[in-house]
Amino acid sequence: MTKTPEHITILIGSPKGIEKSNSARLAKGITTVLESARWTSKWFHTHQVLRSDESWDALLSSMARSDVILLAAPLYVDSLPAPVIETLYRLTQAKNALHRDGPPPKMLAILNCGFVEAQQNYTAQSMVRLFCEGMPFEWSGGISIGAGGAINKRIRSALTLAADALRDDILVPDAVDALTGKPMMPPWLYVFGGNFMWKRQAKANGLDAKRLGDRPYEDLSRRG
Ligand SMILES: Cc1cc2nc3c(=O)[nH]c(=O)nc-3n(C[C@H](O)[C@H](O)[C@H](O)COP(=O)(O)O)c2cc1C
Repeated sequence: MTKTPEHITILIGSPKGIEKSNSARLAKGITTVLESARWTSKWFHTHQVLRSDESWDALLSSMARSDVILLAAPLYVDSLPAPVIETLYRLTQAKNALHRDGPPPKMLAILNCGFVEAQQNYTAQSMVRLFCEGMPFEWSGGISIGAGGAINKRIRSALTLAADALRDDILVPDAVDALTGKPMMPPWLYVFGGNFMWKRQAKANGLDAKRLGDRPYEDLSRRG
């Protein structure tokens, strides 16, 4: 009898969606490896599954036959974007439809943030881990990426290592954390580069860069 191919469900939680987000680019680092090992994959966008019953049902049926569920999302205000939280909440309501015989699917989260330190994502990773505890899923760990999800050689190796582990059905190695936890550049240099970018944008918009720190609404908010 031929074995059914392994399957991964990818849930993208960025408003930029599957085509344009850093989250989706990072998720591809995992799926490329699995697809070359003949896994099947199905991609969903949190914002879309919340809007359409048809997409929601398709998500549940893909999850029910998954070996791995991958959530890839940006960090928003030290947390998960609201549509991601809403999707996770709705999944807890639908969990009976996801119970099955045999081993539960593994769940992995790739979270990326704008600041250079990957550790900014840790609280949001805990949110996904706690979600998993209440679900018929096995938490496989989180991959946290800083610097706007920029992919260099180290990040690419980390994603490949994680994908290899998922493919081989073994624990995601600690080396993944070691590779992603190192800032891409010294934080002062990142802030310097960021400030340079803001000043350039101010100039391009005909504004005085010295006034970037202005708070024109401060007095109004004090008056209530
Ligand atoms: C509304 C909003 C809130 C954000 N909050 C944070 C934050 O708290 N910490 C941080 O490091 N980056 C923050 N960012 C930056 C994003 O996490 C970052 O740009 C990320 O790479 C976007 O990924 P995406 O392309 O997958 O959406 C925020 C961005 C937006 C638009």
